[in-house]
Parts: sequence; structure tokens; C-alpha cells
Amino acid sequence: LRTIRILGIETSCDDTGAAVIDDQRNILGESIRNQLQYHQKFGGIVPNIAKQHHYENLVPVVAEAMNNIEWDSISAIATSIRPGLIISLWQGVNFTRQLLFKYNKPFIPIHHMEAHALTVRLTHDVDFPYMVLLASGGHCILAIVEDVDKYYRLGESNDISPGETLDKVAREMNLSEHPSVKDLVGGAAIEYLALQGDSSIFNLITSQYSAKSKDCSFTFGGMLSAAKRLITKHQIKYDSSMLNDQILKDLCACIQTSVVRHIETRIHRAILYCDYRENLTWRKTLVLSGGVASNLFLRKRLKDLCDYYSMKLVCPPPKYCTDNGVMIAWNGVERFRRNLGVISAVDEIIPEAR
Ligand code: KG4
Ligand code: ZN
Repeated sequence: LRTIRILGIETSCDDTGAAVIDDQRNILGESIRNQLQYHQKFGGIVPNIAKQHHYENLVPVVAEAMNNIEWDSISAIATSIRPGLIISLWQGVNFTRQLLFKYNKPFIPIHHMEAHALTVRLTHDVDFPYMVLLASGGHCILAIVEDVDKYYRLGESNDISPGETLDKVAREMNLSEHPSVKDLVGGAAIEYLALQGDSSIFNLITSQYSAKSKDCSFTFGGMLSAAKRLITKHQIKYDSSMLNDQILKDLCACIQTSVVRHIETRIHRAILYCDYRENLTWRKTLVLSGGVASNLFLRKRLKDLCDYYSMKLVCPPPKYCTDNGVMIAWNGVERFRRNLGVISAVDEIIPEAR
């Protein structure tokens, strides 16, 4: 029996990633390039800049992932086709199309969020079904993963994502100038400064997300607005003449706690709901993924919650929690060995933003 080997390609946002993985869970090659630095001064991802960098990065990234691997040994190519920045997705899809023709390979279209949800099965022994929280700069989704292609959606964000919330607060506070965190992304900068902050100094609880609805959907807009109002009112903005940045650290602790508590309450509800619904069988494992999942305060709070309900908390290593080619290749393996959605009609590939 020939082993399955999949080349995975990821270009849905600002990372160009590629990897080759076999069905024995060996990562045979991987490569990633990020372009965040070129977008930072614009305060968000600029589509045309993303396009240009993906275009320049795809050839070297795929070559690096394929280093010492024969094209003949590749069973199929898997590429993210949704959701994401449409202009970025097109770069990956067009490049993939060239490879498919050149090497005559089948194609596995990948849903980027499915890939995030399945990555854990590459790095850990986790069986279906399990609960997964995907919390990143672009998403906040809580679901039960019932099978490779079967999801029970418990809740998602009604407005912005937790990562975006933290990034916007960090930007308002001018943290990219702060010497101790200037090289960190928003959420990580807040996590670092929050270590020395007191979260009880401010209250960011707004009626919007406190009591009313009892479902598992998320909302972060209210706490973001509340944080912005505090920043304006108390002038909580970093500048180099600042003598004491304690108030800054306190607000970091406060916004981090608000985000984490909110996520915690929704997961708590989800656990109770799944226990209650008999036909929703699951193996009592919670998986965390996405950039925000690398937050240690979040992990600690969810670990305590999981311990209480005798659940296991599993987090893939941070570099596989964020966007990368490995998760796409792995999703390709999971689909290819079950013959799920493997196609050959290359001209039918149309990426979609959502
Ligand atoms: O998954 P990711 O790398 O990219 C996508 O959004 O797809 O997630 C990036 C997000 C950013 O909003 C960043 O601020 C946040 O993850 N993040 C964190 C931490 N590290 C990254 N948020 C909280 N704590 C962290 N340590
Ligand atoms: Zn992602």
C-alpha cells in the first residue's frame, strides 16, 4: 500500500504557507512567510500588498516545503479556497492550478476553518467528536467536530473577533511604540503588560453581553467601545514621555480579563448544553486553536473549567494554531484517505471570501 502524501498551500490572509505531510502524520517539509510588517503602518491588511507578497512568496515557499521530495510521490495538492481575503485566496488557487496541470495531480479544496479545527489530530491523539474553539484575528467559532466534514456549530461572534478586539485596543493605546512590547502583535502585547496590571481598576462589562441572551454566540463590540471610551477619558495612550505606565497595564489586564471571561462563559454554556442534549455525544475534549488560543491566561481559565467537568484541554503548538501550510496539508490527508471532496476538474475552483 502506497503512503499518502499531500502538499498543502495556504494564502487566505497574510501568511504564505506550504507543507508536505503523509498519512503517518510525518511532516516531510514545511515553509512559511509572513508579511505583517508591510501592512502594519496601514493599520490592517492591504489587499494589493497581500497579493504582491503571496505572488513573490509562493514559488520559494513551495520549493522549500518540497525540498528533497519527488513530485511523483505527491498524491494530491490541497489549497485553502475559503474563507479569507479573496485576492489572497486567488493567488494560492491560481498557483495551485499551474502545479496541478504541470504535475497532473488531483485537487482537494480546503475550508480554512475546517483545517484549523482538524490540526489537533495531527499533533495529538484526539478522536471525534470533540469541542473546538477557534479564536483568532478573523474568527471566533465554537463547534463540535463530529467528523472530518461534519460540524455542529454552537456559536460564533455576532460582531468582531477577540483578536481584533485586542488588536484595536492595543492600537488605541499605542502599544507598538512601547519598548517592552513593540515587537509583539496586539494580543500578545496586552498579555505581557497585563501580567503587571490590576484588572479590577476598570469595569468593561456592558449590558450588551452581560445577561440577555443565553446562547453560545459571542460579542466583543461592547467591550471594545467601553475600552476606547476609557482610553480617551483617561488619556491611556503610550508615549515616550510617560513616567508611569501603570494605568496602561491595568487597562491591558482589564480588557484581557473581559475577553477571556466572555469566552469562558460561552464555553461553560456549551458544555452544559452538550451534556443536556443526549444526541450530542462527545468525548469531553476541548480543543483550542487560533492566534488568541496562545494566550496563557485564557488557557489557564479554560483548564480550570475543563478540570471541573473532568474534560481534557488540548492545544496544538502555537505555530500550528495560527495560519500555516501544515494544517492545510493535514486537512488534505484527512480528506484524501476518506475520498472526501477530491476533484480533478481544475477549472471549477472558485475561491470565496466567506
Ligand atoms: O490565527 P492568527 O495568527 O491569524 C488570524 O487571525 O487568522 O491570529 C492572530 C490574532 C491577532 O489578533 C493577535 O493579536 C492574536 O491572535 N494573538 C493573541 C496572542 N497572540 C496572538 N491574542 C491574545 N494573546 C496572545 N498571546
Ligand atoms: Zn486562520
